[in-house]
Amino acid sequence: MIDFKNIPSEKEDLDRYEVENNFQSWSYQPAQSPPRVVSAKGVRFTTEDGRERLDFSSCFVSHNIGHQDPRVVEAICQQAQTLTSFAPSMSNKPRALLAKTLAEITPGDLSRSFISLGGAEANEAAVKICHQFTGRRKIITRFRTYHGGTSTAMTLSAGDSRSWAQVLGGTDMIKVPQPYCYRCMFGQAYPQCDLQCVKYIDEAIELEGGGDQVAGIIFEPVTGANGIIVPPPEYFPELRKVCDKWGVLMIADEVMTGLGRTGKWFAMNHWDVTPDIMTMAKGLTCGYLPLGATIVREHIGDRFKDQFFSHGATYAGHALGCATALSVIPIYQSDNLIENSAKMGSYLLEKAQELKDKHPCVGDVRGLGLFVGLELVKNKKTKEPMTSTDAKIRAGMNPKLEVAKKLGELGMMAMAANPVNVVVMAPPLIVTKDEIDEGVAIMDQALKVADVYAEK
Ligand SMILES: Cc1ncc(COP(=O)(O)O)c(C=O)c1O
Repeated sequence: MIDFKNIPSEKEDLDRYEVENNFQSWSYQPAQSPPRVVSAKGVRFTTEDGRERLDFSSCFVSHNIGHQDPRVVEAICQQAQTLTSFAPSMSNKPRALLAKTLAEITPGDLSRSFISLGGAEANEAAVKICHQFTGRRKIITRFRTYHGGTSTAMTLSAGDSRSWAQVLGGTDMIKVPQPYCYRCMFGQAYPQCDLQCVKYIDEAIELEGGGDQVAGIIFEPVTGANGIIVPPPEYFPELRKVCDKWGVLMIADEVMTGLGRTGKWFAMNHWDVTPDIMTMAKGLTCGYLPLGATIVREHIGDRFKDQFFSHGATYAGHALGCATALSVIPIYQSDNLIENSAKMGSYLLEKAQELKDKHPCVGDVRGLGLFVGLELVKNKKTKEPMTSTDAKIRAGMNPKLEVAKKLGELGMMAMAANPVNVVVMAPPLIVTKDEIDEGVAIMDQALKVADVYAEK
């Protein structure tokens, strides 16, 4: 018999379990346990040693409404007392209400949702729907992007009749450049470039078999972990035209950008473009419970009245998760968080520009809403990157990880260990001007460790 109640749980025991029994995401497995978080409130969190720090990453851009909001905790407790979850073949009230709510807050005629447990799952569903709707195999994706940690799992489901509706062979990826104006892959400058990055996609579709072969294009409206790449204003309207020309579906991955992060409900609202499929997670429940959603336009949803919908999951439309989202979403409106994101985002961008002027290691500053990135370079003139593309998967320290470490020591968490040279500041949308000043002052100190590697 295992004595479950008495598993040793002193600090040293927990540290040992972390090191010996747990996989740490996206890293060499550490020799020491990371600091343990014991509580969080608003824009701050506290570790076991009693130290309080600022959360300027919103836990990888998820805790948009801030930590431990009592309204959400109360809603979770209430739902948990009646129904935590039930088989997805039956309806539950939170699922039905959330599906309707998502149709209300998303742009255009996006109206039918598949509700899952996170961002990667939401994107898997989007890609599968795209295959099933078009009957085509090829999906365009862009370099410098992240859509989740799972592989497109359906090709593994051999012999199960549920996989027959999939296009055989699964997804075939075509990779294209981003509208990354700071380092344009076409060597051009906006606006003289005439949007070569969109023209390239048009030609790529043609060369890959056009409307017979290419099913969709997936993109982050503002690229997140790979460097806060904000497209020029014409990019998405022009891309919409190209996609319409070929019947290629646009899949907007709003997992990071959705739910107020960029100063609108969804980033695509900035350009008045309705994607055919949109995915979201993170800010949908703000980390209080895991949840993701894939929402499609009406004509796509309606197709599956006559065609088998080949997707599902035991916890699809999880009642407790949906109830959590239903308590989170109204808070964006009642507390004016989307307006605050736009207003405080402009202030944060302005302050980040000042850091650029001051620090030799900051080559570029970009942002939209409370989603602001500082790109680290060795030389502002030549734009030589601070670290190489493979730095993230190499063992040991590099200048950017030194910035991340320094931030932690000084009392702040930002997204500074992501794959590219961009340090991201994305505080919860409740952040105040004083808290931004506090965070920027810490960033100012931390950047000094990278200045040492930059040419003055
Ligand atoms: C744009 C984007 N899509 C998808 C994901 C995956 O989401 P999850 O970690 O919930 O699976 C992430 C995670 O950071 C993301 O940034």
